[in-house]
Amino acid sequence: MKTPILLKTTQELKKWRESITGSLGFVPTMGALHAGHLSLLQASKAQNSHTLLSIFVNPTQFGANEDFGKYPRTLESDIALAQGVDAIFAPEISEMYPNKDEITLNPPKSMGSVYEGAIREGHFAGVLQVVLKLFNLSSPTRAYFGKKDAQQLLILQKMCKDFFLPLEIVPCEIVRDTDGLALSSRNVYLSKEERALALSIPQTLQKIASLIAQGESDVAKLYDFGMNELKDLQVDYLAFCNHSLEPIKSIIPSQTLILLTCKVGNTRLLDNLWI
Ligand code: PAF
Repeated sequence: MKTPILLKTTQELKKWRESITGSLGFVPTMGALHAGHLSLLQASKAQNSHTLLSIFVNPTQFGANEDFGKYPRTLESDIALAQGVDAIFAPEISEMYPNKDEITLNPPKSMGSVYEGAIREGHFAGVLQVVLKLFNLSSPTRAYFGKKDAQQLLILQKMCKDFFLPLEIVPCEIVRDTDGLALSSRNVYLSKEERALALSIPQTLQKIASLIAQGESDVAKLYDFGMNELKDLQVDYLAFCNHSLEPIKSIIPSQTLILLTCKVGNTRLLDNLWI
């Protein structure tokens, strides 16, 4: 298995990009890799001549009171997990943000100021800023994102469409632990008790999926059912929307997204269902 080349500067990344031919699959991450990230790397390796992984805890997507300082940083073990990848780009903040007062991008309010965007003001502007930089530095053929961050995925797809970016965004399925909890780098914050409580997140989504499979399409009824199931958790939102993130009243097969975000202890956990 090949050991990835470690690239620390934007110059090194650009030089490496110029040195390769064939297709490039790109997996942007903030590190603390888990099986969800590894599934993105697998998909990229299967579909491309080369795979690039980036590991960068991006300050501009964290709010002032969020966990930027304590976000897990595990570069050594991430490198060990990423064997078989061609290159890892792991820059310092000064490499990615060398200028003051940069131009920023904002998603349309209908996509960026709802759900996560309503709670984490400025979050998606930070994501768009860093991802556009990473795309411009690496010129990938395809970029891989997990469906767990559904809102991020849809906003990034829109950025690529609106800005005519010459790459394909490949959405990848949510990877779950054996107990059903969606994998997230933030799961390490959970105590044993909090983790047990958190299981009602995937369980509720599964129960909602079963009701829909049995023919229930009334969103108001499904919402009430879900909120009742989640009564022991602090729910940030349980939302039923279409793939443009607009609220819906009735389930439309193949076009529905159910978003669920809860706070368990001090940790926010996101999960969702694509129906
Ligand atoms: O999903 C993430 O890990 C981050 O938001 C991303 C896309 C790597 C941008 O920092």
